[in-house]
Amino acid sequence: MSASLKVALIGARGMLADAVQRLAPGNWDIHGYDLPGFDLTDRTSVLDLAGENPDLIINCAALTDVDGCESRVEQAEAVNGRGPGYLAELARDCGATLVHVSTDFVFNGEKDGPYLETDTPDPLSVYGLSKLHGEQAILAGGLERCFIIRTSWLYGAGGGNFVETMVRLARERESLGIVADQIGTPTWTDDLVRAMLRLLEQGDYGIYHYSNDGACSWYDFACAAIELARHDEKLAVRQIRPITTADYPLPACRPRYSVLSKQKIGKISGVEIPDWRESLKRYFKQRQGGDKTHGY
Ligand SMILES: NC(=O)c1ccc[n+]([C@@H]2O[C@H](COP(=O)([O-])OP(=O)(O)OC[C@H]3O[C@@H](n4cnc5c(N)ncnc54)[C@H](OP(=O)(O)O)[C@@H]3O)[C@@H](O)[C@H]2O)c1
Repeated sequence: MSASLKVALIGARGMLADAVQRLAPGNWDIHGYDLPGFDLTDRTSVLDLAGENPDLIINCAALTDVDGCESRVEQAEAVNGRGPGYLAELARDCGATLVHVSTDFVFNGEKDGPYLETDTPDPLSVYGLSKLHGEQAILAGGLERCFIIRTSWLYGAGGGNFVETMVRLARERESLGIVADQIGTPTWTDDLVRAMLRLLEQGDYGIYHYSNDGACSWYDFACAAIELARHDEKLAVRQIRPITTADYPLPACRPRYSVLSKQKIGKISGVEIPDWRESLKRYFKQRQGGDKTHGY
């Protein structure tokens, strides 16, 4: 067994952090930090973690309520924009590696093909802009041992997410209208964590894109989730209608297309990138108690 690795997991009560804790290698000694005991926006508290001497810092903390961020600009900037910069300072102070998670919403959605790591960000929302500022705060510090992983449409155990919302609505309503003119790729948290672990093993620092494979609309994603849920329970929903973004106005503007290219991570880490439909099936199996850990 290799030597123990001390890991500071920031945002430890969130959805992605749940998968990190379930899938972590046996030699990881994980210390979790989250609100209310730990506040990423408090630079002094963040830098105080140097006393714990972490070898690895994983930042899963964020203000992820995309629409809520529109009216909480200062809080979004503090958590998503400045907090990651404090973690980069901490990582430098204690010689730790930093893994930070960012989003497809840093792009404007006007591209014709999958977004590369080298494409220019141009966020449409307060959330997207604050997440971009977080990336920039890390990069400005010149931290060498750092991974920034952009992901999209995240769902998994241990948190509220689109799949669970769709299943709940399908229990409650006979008819649902779901946006069909925004295209992206769902990502199962367990797959993202496996990709993260591969990058850490490989040690080639930098910015990476990771989502599941393929592309779909929110409508396609909802239909697939509801079909799988129907195998396990009786649902009220009879009709799922494709609607447009304009039919369902929300405070935050979202990219109409935000598929991420996985060319770089595939080439460098060789990690498996399962199709989104396959991973959704595995999530449902896990959700039903079929497999609490790996899904495959
Ligand atoms: N969810 C998605 O669809 C999606 C898509 C692309 C990228 N991402 C990125 O993936 C990462 C993980 O997302 P997730 O969905 O797992 O997030 P999540 O479930 O919302 O978890 C985030 C955690 O951070 C905590 N947090 C918020 N403000 C904090 C602060 N000031 N100090 C310490 N902790 C704080 C939250 O606590 P409270 O719950 O108490 O606020 C929560 O426990 C984030 O960086 C997110 O931007 C998510």
